[in-house]
Amino acid sequence: MPAAKDVRFWDRTARKYAASPIEDMAGYERSIEHARRLLKSTDVVFEFGCGTGTTALKLAPAVARYVATDFSPEMIAIAREKAAAGGCANVEFAVTAPESAHWPDASFDAALGFNVLHLIPDRATALRGVHRMLKPGGLFLSKTPQLKAMNPGIRLLVPLMQAVGQAPYVSFLSAEDLEREIEANGFEIIDRAKHSSGKKDMRTFFVARKI
Ligand SMILES: C[S@@+](CC[C@H](N)C(=O)[O-])C[C@H]1O[C@@H](n2cnc3c(N)ncnc32)[C@H](O)[C@@H]1O
Repeated sequence: MPAAKDVRFWDRTARKYAASPIEDMAGYERSIEHARRLLKSTDVVFEFGCGTGTTALKLAPAVARYVATDFSPEMIAIAREKAAAGGCANVEFAVTAPESAHWPDASFDAALGFNVLHLIPDRATALRGVHRMLKPGGLFLSKTPQLKAMNPGIRLLVPLMQAVGQAPYVSFLSAEDLEREIEANGFEIIDRAKHSSGKKDMRTFFVARKI
């Protein structure tokens, strides 16, 4: 179950998050293109931690139906405003977390989680939730900040910020940690890509398949 204080953090942050530009737009577009190449026009797609729906609204035109979710009602409210303004008909937004999502087993052809796995304390349960809702052989595409590789100072700063409500829960993961966890929860990693425009890419794009 997500912590109420984390939901409140993301609700408070939502309008600011929506207004802030994507840091590495070219790298982000490479991830979107990679995802588009893997998705089929007949696919039904599930996204978790969708934020204000930017990725959902870019990918929905390439698939049959796109269900985008986030545990923050405020993020979803903004995503719905953007979808209404853009006239995107095959995307629906819902407030939920992957571990408590209500869709039946094997409902989706593919799942996406961008910039969110490190924010989930019980990743095993979340990954098993995604696994349950995917069809056999379904794809799980993820991209997650690997904070273990970052400046160690951040490890001291984050708990201080959390104590005053200025940071949410975060895990300091490496690419290897992520791989191990994804594979331990019923997936095989079938591809890894680096999309960043910078020299160091600390957000490996993983393509995993439900075993
Ligand atoms: C850093 S934002 C990323 C948003 C979007 N995926 C992107 O790449 O721009 C993280 C999002 O994950 C959501 N989130 C954080 N923890 C979550 C959880 N445990 N379950 C579901 N969503 C969560 C937050 O509300 C927020 O919208």
